[in-house]
Amino acid sequence: MGINSQLQEMARREVENFRHNRIDLADEVLAVPTADYVDQARWQKEIDLVFKRVPLALGFSSEFSAPGDYKALKVAGVPVIIVRTQDGSIAAHVNMCSHRGNYVVAEGSGHTTRFRCNYHAWNYALEGDLISILDEENFGSVDKSCHGLTALPAAERAGLVWVTLNPDSKVDIDDFLSGYEAMLTQLRFNETQVAGTQRLDGPNWKVAYDGYRDFYHLPVLHKETIGAGLSHQPDYYAWGPHVRVVSPNNFADLANTPEADWADTQITQGVWTIFPNISIAGGANRDGMYMVSQLYPGESPMTSTTQQNFLHFGDVKDVDQEALDGFMSLMHTVVAQEDYATGFNVQSALSTGAKAFSYFGRNEGGGQLFHRWVDAILAASDDELPALFANGI
Ligand code: FES
Ligand SMILES: [Fe+2]
Repeated sequence: MGINSQLQEMARREVENFRHNRIDLADEVLAVPTADYVDQARWQKEIDLVFKRVPLALGFSSEFSAPGDYKALKVAGVPVIIVRTQDGSIAAHVNMCSHRGNYVVAEGSGHTTRFRCNYHAWNYALEGDLISILDEENFGSVDKSCHGLTALPAAERAGLVWVTLNPDSKVDIDDFLSGYEAMLTQLRFNETQVAGTQRLDGPNWKVAYDGYRDFYHLPVLHKETIGAGLSHQPDYYAWGPHVRVVSPNNFADLANTPEADWADTQITQGVWTIFPNISIAGGANRDGMYMVSQLYPGESPMTSTTQQNFLHFGDVKDVDQEALDGFMSLMHTVVAQEDYATGFNVQSALSTGAKAFSYFGRNEGGGQLFHRWVDAILAASDDELPALFANGI
């Protein structure tokens, strides 16, 4: 396969920036009101208008290899079932029985032919249709076709599974991706399997997520663990609200290599984020792993949960378990004890109101873009939102 031309263009720019010892700066410094992080009403809007209206990457295609493979999880308060249906497509439903609302399957993942509610045994097909009611005659004339599970918009793109939590959202997945699918495809998730997962408690979701687009802090906050020798100078590339973060210094090898010999492993390096809550790191080495972090708001502005997924190229049975355990433990330490410990300090200080603004410098363009997109989405009505993604901000 030839090298993707967009990736190649970015690599050329990074080589140039490396040679000139420069980065591409944002036009200005952005001041973000500190209250925007901790205000309860604002946070609730972020849940309702951002998290519930845009497609969220909730899983990987490889988790649903056969019809009947499912995953049930709760996201932003909504219980969701994701399932591979009989025709091979992905469907998503609200995990809520039409009788009196019980979950129709316990949280977790597995394989099934039906979803059978364990309260009074109403039965649903993988596709969500209500199939049978125990003692149906006692419910009068039930039109079963009107009492299936509530369907949520679902799609597969680039080996990821996307679900929109608000069934009425009109946002189109491809408008939302803004051309980013072509980049995500280059990361080859279809060749990976989930080898391990772990969950971490964190601070406010935006405080936590700011750290994933931030190279500025790497050799400072992480000096004792992963940061020694890492560059603190990033460049950002954007597709709609989705941002790639790279450092020109990491393209030093390519500066001395003819373009024809650039490996795709080298030119896909960096951190790839998916708005509003995903970070993909570690892709430069296909013998290694991706760490895909999914951040979810918790029960209040002061909490979040992060699922770290460790993706292995090839079959998980070939994973070096000792190396995986070591890597997972390191990433738990780095994120919990360095990033999130700092984030908890940040949010408790932000909560005092002692300062009105936080700042994103001209070297933090990716963070600027994120906060601008959150503001723009909050300001858009349901009818305006599709055009916002189609046209950009
Ligand atoms: S709540 Fe599901 S069958 Fe009664
Ligand atoms: Fe960090």
